[in-house]
Amino acid sequence: MSKGIFITATGTGIGKTVITAGLALALRDVGFDVGILKPVQSGHALDSPESDGMILKELAQITAPIEKIVTYSFPEPVAPQLAAEIAEVEIDRMRILQHVEELKARHDVVLVEGAGGLMVPIRHDYSVADLAKEIGWPLLIIAHPLLGTVNHTVLTTLVARQMGLHPMGVILNGLRETDEDPSVAHNSRFIEQMAQIPVLGTVPWLGEDVTSQNVRQAMIQNVNMTALIQSIN
Ligand SMILES: Nc1ncnc2c1ncn2[C@@H]1O[C@H](COP(=O)(O)OP(=O)(O)O)[C@@H](O)[C@H]1O
Ligand SMILES: [Mg+2]
Repeated sequence: MSKGIFITATGTGIGKTVITAGLALALRDVGFDVGILKPVQSGHALDSPESDGMILKELAQITAPIEKIVTYSFPEPVAPQLAAEIAEVEIDRMRILQHVEELKARHDVVLVEGAGGLMVPIRHDYSVADLAKEIGWPLLIIAHPLLGTVNHTVLTTLVARQMGLHPMGVILNGLRETDEDPSVAHNSRFIEQMAQIPVLGTVPWLGEDVTSQNVRQAMIQNVNMTALIQSIN
Protein backbone atom coordinates (compact mmCIF):
# COMPACT_ATOMS: atom_id res chain seq x y z
CA MET A 1 0.00 0.00 0.00
CA SER A 2 1.26 3.49 -0.77
CA LYS A 3 2.16 5.71 2.09
CA GLY A 4 3.39 9.18 2.51
CA ILE A 5 4.49 11.95 4.80
CA PHE A 6 3.62 15.63 4.62
CA ILE A 7 6.63 17.68 5.67
CA THR A 8 5.96 21.05 7.23
CA ALA A 9 7.97 23.39 9.44
CA THR A 10 7.52 26.04 12.07
CA GLY A 11 8.38 28.60 9.39
CA THR A 12 10.20 29.20 6.15
CA GLY A 13 13.92 28.46 5.75
CA ILE A 14 13.97 25.94 8.60
CA GLY A 15 15.10 22.95 6.56
CA LYS A 16 12.10 21.23 4.96
CA THR A 17 13.87 20.81 1.63
CA VAL A 18 17.12 19.50 3.11
CA ILE A 19 15.34 17.10 5.48
CA THR A 20 12.91 15.90 2.80
CA ALA A 21 15.86 15.03 0.56
CA GLY A 22 17.72 13.37 3.43
CA LEU A 23 14.65 11.38 4.34
CA ALA A 24 14.22 10.21 0.75
CA LEU A 25 17.82 8.97 0.70
CA ALA A 26 17.54 7.28 4.10
CA LEU A 27 14.26 5.58 3.16
CA ARG A 28 15.72 4.45 -0.17
CA ASP A 29 18.60 2.92 1.77
CA VAL A 30 16.22 0.56 3.53
CA GLY A 31 14.52 -0.46 0.31
CA PHE A 32 11.66 1.98 -0.27
CA ASP A 33 11.01 3.45 -3.69
CA VAL A 34 10.52 7.10 -2.74
CA GLY A 35 8.77 9.84 -4.68
CA ILE A 36 8.90 13.53 -3.80
CA LEU A 37 6.33 16.25 -4.46
CA LYS A 38 6.64 20.00 -4.02
CA PRO A 39 3.08 21.14 -4.73
CA VAL A 40 3.78 24.88 -4.86
CA GLN A 41 7.13 26.65 -4.94
CA SER A 42 7.93 30.31 -5.34
CA GLY A 43 10.99 32.48 -5.72
CA HIS A 44 12.70 30.81 -8.66
CA ALA A 45 12.11 29.53 -12.16
CA LEU A 46 11.05 25.89 -12.29
CA ASP A 47 14.42 24.73 -13.61
CA SER A 48 16.61 27.09 -11.56
CA PRO A 49 19.23 25.14 -9.58
CA GLU A 50 18.17 27.22 -6.55
CA SER A 51 14.52 26.19 -6.68
CA ASP A 52 13.24 23.71 -4.10
CA GLY A 53 12.26 21.27 -6.83
CA MET A 54 15.72 21.24 -8.39
CA ILE A 55 17.42 21.00 -4.99
CA LEU A 56 15.17 18.07 -4.10
CA LYS A 57 15.86 16.45 -7.47
CA GLU A 58 19.63 16.83 -7.13
CA LEU A 59 20.05 16.05 -3.42
CA ALA A 60 17.61 13.13 -3.40
CA GLN A 61 18.99 11.91 -6.75
CA ILE A 62 15.64 11.72 -8.47
CA THR A 63 15.81 10.90 -12.16
CA ALA A 64 12.24 11.97 -12.99
CA PRO A 65 11.91 15.32 -14.79
CA ILE A 66 11.26 18.40 -12.65
CA GLU A 67 7.63 18.61 -13.83
CA LYS A 68 7.02 15.30 -12.02
CA ILE A 69 8.30 16.83 -8.75
CA VAL A 70 6.75 20.33 -8.78
CA THR A 71 3.08 21.05 -9.52
CA TYR A 72 3.10 24.87 -9.45
CA SER A 73 6.12 27.14 -9.68
CA PHE A 74 6.09 30.94 -9.45
CA PRO A 75 9.04 33.31 -9.84
CA GLU A 76 7.99 35.81 -7.16
CA PRO A 77 9.65 35.09 -3.75
CA VAL A 78 6.42 35.36 -1.74
CA ALA A 79 3.82 32.98 -0.27
CA PRO A 80 1.96 30.80 -2.80
CA GLN A 81 -1.32 32.75 -2.91
CA LEU A 82 0.41 36.07 -3.56
CA ALA A 83 2.89 34.52 -6.01
CA ALA A 84 -0.04 33.00 -7.93
CA GLU A 85 -1.95 36.31 -7.86
CA ILE A 86 1.08 38.14 -9.29
CA ALA A 87 1.46 35.48 -11.98
CA GLU A 88 -2.32 35.67 -12.61
CA VAL A 89 -2.67 31.95 -12.11
CA GLU A 90 -5.47 30.27 -10.20
CA ILE A 91 -4.11 27.36 -8.16
CA ASP A 92 -6.31 24.31 -8.68
CA ARG A 93 -6.19 22.03 -5.62
CA MET A 94 -7.45 19.13 -7.74
CA ARG A 95 -4.34 19.38 -9.90
CA ILE A 96 -2.18 18.97 -6.80
CA LEU A 97 -4.26 16.06 -5.51
CA GLN A 98 -4.06 14.44 -8.96
CA HIS A 99 -0.27 14.82 -8.82
CA VAL A 100 -0.25 13.10 -5.41
CA GLU A 101 -2.25 10.22 -6.89
CA GLU A 102 0.21 9.85 -9.78
CA LEU A 103 3.16 9.63 -7.41
CA LYS A 104 1.30 7.23 -5.11
CA ALA A 105 0.74 4.91 -8.03
CA ARG A 106 4.44 4.95 -8.91
CA HIS A 107 6.19 4.77 -5.50
CA ASP A 108 6.11 2.98 -2.13
CA VAL A 109 6.45 6.21 -0.16
CA VAL A 110 5.75 9.78 -1.22
CA LEU A 111 7.23 12.78 0.61
CA VAL A 112 5.33 16.04 0.14
CA GLU A 113 7.18 19.23 1.03
CA GLY A 114 4.75 21.97 2.07
CA ALA A 115 5.45 25.67 1.65
CA GLY A 116 6.50 27.78 4.64
CA GLY A 117 4.48 26.60 7.63
CA LEU A 118 0.90 25.35 8.11
CA MET A 119 -0.84 28.74 8.12
CA VAL A 120 0.47 29.80 4.73
CA PRO A 121 -2.23 30.70 2.19
CA ILE A 122 -2.33 28.78 -1.09
CA ARG A 123 -5.63 30.39 -2.17
CA HIS A 124 -8.05 32.77 -0.49
CA ASP A 125 -9.92 29.80 0.96
CA TYR A 126 -7.13 27.23 1.25
CA SER A 127 -3.99 26.95 3.39
CA VAL A 128 -1.06 24.54 3.50
CA ALA A 129 -2.83 22.88 6.45
CA ASP A 130 -5.96 22.39 4.31
CA LEU A 131 -3.84 20.75 1.61
CA ALA A 132 -2.13 18.50 4.17
CA LYS A 133 -5.57 17.52 5.52
CA GLU A 134 -6.85 16.60 2.07
CA ILE A 135 -3.77 14.52 1.31
CA GLY A 136 -4.32 12.84 4.66
CA TRP A 137 -0.82 11.61 5.48
CA PRO A 138 0.96 12.00 8.82
CA LEU A 139 2.64 15.33 9.38
CA LEU A 140 6.35 15.66 10.08
CA ILE A 141 7.32 18.99 11.64
CA ILE A 142 10.78 20.47 11.05
CA ALA A 143 11.89 23.05 13.62
CA HIS A 144 15.07 24.83 14.64
CA PRO A 145 16.92 23.48 17.69
CA LEU A 146 17.44 26.71 19.66
CA LEU A 147 15.68 28.86 22.25
CA GLY A 148 12.14 29.59 21.03
CA THR A 149 11.63 26.26 19.31
CA VAL A 150 9.45 24.84 22.09
CA ASN A 151 6.88 27.57 21.57
CA HIS A 152 6.98 27.39 17.75
CA THR A 153 6.82 23.62 17.65
CA VAL A 154 4.09 23.21 20.25
CA LEU A 155 1.96 25.88 18.50
CA THR A 156 2.37 24.11 15.15
CA THR A 157 1.51 20.73 16.68
CA LEU A 158 -1.58 22.00 18.48
CA VAL A 159 -2.94 23.86 15.46
CA ALA A 160 -2.27 20.80 13.31
CA ARG A 161 -4.35 18.64 15.62
CA GLN A 162 -7.06 21.27 15.85
CA MET A 163 -7.31 21.16 12.05
CA GLY A 164 -7.61 17.38 12.03
CA LEU A 165 -4.04 16.62 11.00
CA HIS A 166 -1.93 13.85 12.52
CA PRO A 167 1.51 15.11 13.60
CA MET A 168 3.78 12.04 13.75
CA GLY A 169 6.96 13.66 15.00
CA VAL A 170 9.42 16.51 15.03
CA ILE A 171 12.93 16.80 13.62
CA LEU A 172 15.07 19.62 14.96
CA ASN A 173 17.41 20.80 12.23
CA GLY A 174 20.59 22.81 11.90
CA LEU A 175 22.38 22.59 15.25
CA ARG A 176 25.82 24.18 14.96
CA GLU A 177 28.77 23.11 17.11
CA THR A 178 29.28 26.78 17.92
CA ASP A 179 25.74 27.24 19.21
CA GLU A 180 25.98 28.26 22.84
CA ASP A 181 22.43 27.88 23.99
CA PRO A 182 21.67 26.16 27.29
CA SER A 183 18.15 25.31 26.10
CA VAL A 184 19.43 22.95 23.37
CA ALA A 185 19.84 19.94 25.65
CA HIS A 186 16.27 20.34 26.96
CA ASN A 187 14.15 21.50 24.03
CA SER A 188 13.20 17.99 22.89
CA ARG A 189 12.00 17.08 26.36
CA PHE A 190 9.83 20.18 26.64
CA ILE A 191 8.36 19.72 23.17
CA GLU A 192 7.46 16.13 24.03
CA GLN A 193 6.03 17.16 27.41
CA MET A 194 3.96 20.07 26.10
CA ALA A 195 2.71 18.62 22.83
CA GLN A 196 2.85 14.86 23.39
CA ILE A 197 4.75 14.37 20.16
CA PRO A 198 8.03 12.46 19.69
CA VAL A 199 11.16 14.38 18.73
CA LEU A 200 12.75 11.93 16.29
CA GLY A 201 16.17 13.55 16.25
CA THR A 202 18.37 16.62 15.93
CA VAL A 203 20.20 17.05 12.63
CA PRO A 204 23.45 19.06 12.77
CA TRP A 205 24.33 22.01 10.56
CA LEU A 206 26.20 20.53 7.59
CA GLY A 207 28.06 23.66 6.60
CA GLU A 208 27.84 25.42 3.26
CA ASP A 209 28.17 22.24 1.25
CA VAL A 210 25.05 20.12 1.73
CA THR A 211 25.51 16.98 -0.36
CA SER A 212 23.50 13.81 -0.89
CA GLN A 213 26.16 11.96 1.01
CA ASN A 214 26.33 14.17 4.10
CA VAL A 215 22.59 14.73 4.39
CA ARG A 216 21.89 11.01 4.04
CA GLN A 217 24.48 10.22 6.69
CA ALA A 218 23.17 12.96 8.99
CA MET A 219 19.68 11.48 8.79
CA ILE A 220 20.79 7.93 9.46
CA GLN A 221 23.01 8.95 12.36
CA ASN A 222 20.70 11.43 14.05
CA VAL A 223 17.11 10.52 13.29
CA ASN A 224 15.23 7.55 14.69
CA MET A 225 14.38 6.10 11.29
CA THR A 226 12.81 2.99 12.81
CA ALA A 227 10.26 5.07 14.72
CA LEU A 228 9.69 7.25 11.69
CA ILE A 229 8.99 4.26 9.45
CA GLN A 230 6.71 2.72 12.07
CA SER A 231 4.59 5.83 12.20
CA ILE A 232 3.89 5.77 8.47
CA ASN A 233 2.95 2.10 8.46
N1 LIG B 1 21.32 20.82 8.38
C1 LIG B 1 21.70 21.76 7.53
N2 LIG B 1 23.01 21.98 7.28
C2 LIG B 1 23.42 22.95 6.43
N3 LIG B 1 22.58 23.76 5.76
C3 LIG B 1 21.25 23.59 5.96
C4 LIG B 1 20.75 22.59 6.84
N4 LIG B 1 19.41 22.67 6.84
C5 LIG B 1 19.08 23.67 6.01
N5 LIG B 1 20.19 24.23 5.48
C6 LIG B 1 20.25 25.37 4.56
O1 LIG B 1 19.38 26.38 5.08
C7 LIG B 1 18.61 26.97 4.05
C8 LIG B 1 17.13 26.71 4.32
O2 LIG B 1 16.89 25.30 4.28
P1 LIG B 1 15.69 24.69 3.42
O3 LIG B 1 15.79 23.21 3.51
O4 LIG B 1 15.69 25.28 2.05
O5 LIG B 1 14.44 25.24 4.26
P2 LIG B 1 12.88 25.26 3.89
O6 LIG B 1 12.67 24.22 2.84
O7 LIG B 1 12.16 24.95 5.17
O8 LIG B 1 12.59 26.65 3.42
C9 LIG B 1 19.11 26.36 2.75
O9 LIG B 1 20.12 27.20 2.23
C10 LIG B 1 19.71 25.03 3.19
O10 LIG B 1 20.73 24.56 2.34
MG1 LIG C 1 11.88 24.35 0.92
